[in-house]
Amino acid sequence: MANTPPVLGSSNIILVGFMGTGKSATGRALAARLNREFLDMDTLIEQREQRSIPAIFADSGEPYFRALERALVQELSARNDLVIAPGGGIVLNPDNIRDFSRTGHVICLRATPEMILQRVGDDPNRPLLQTADKLGRIRELLAKRQHLYDAIPLQIETDGKTADEVALEILALLNPPR
Ligand code: S3P
Repeated sequence: MANTPPVLGSSNIILVGFMGTGKSATGRALAARLNREFLDMDTLIEQREQRSIPAIFADSGEPYFRALERALVQELSARNDLVIAPGGGIVLNPDNIRDFSRTGHVICLRATPEMILQRVGDDPNRPLLQTADKLGRIRELLAKRQHLYDAIPLQIETDGKTADEVALEILALLNPPR
């Protein structure tokens, strides 16, 4: 493809990060720019399970959801030319990042707790944030997971940026000027 940066080849691009860091919106913008297929893992899981993420958590439990995620990572890592947005908890199992890294570029999107709250605070589709003190819950979950996000070498700050601006930064990261 003419506009695909050569350094990318057919490697997948995987956008990880906490809820509300813009993985899906950025992934869509990036896929459009690269003329690639975009896959949102939560959406794919909902379609296959024929029920929402909150319903999966409520009726089958979080471990069941994590097992679905794990199987999907293995499936998608065997493909290429994809832009993938996993759910924010994908880093909880290091095998997921290991598998994604074998066939793709893993990039971590970051945002402050305040920005995250602004982006997802009212969304009933985040079962882990259904609590009165949402900012407190975001901070608590972030504190538990920060070392896992920090371990990813490629990091991008997203506060105050549009999805397309972040997509352009990702392209610049993956295809540095020579
Ligand atoms: C989760 C993040 C959600 C979704 C589920 C669990 C998490 O995805 O997979 O609610 O553990 O951080 P988003 O990051 O797309 O909101």
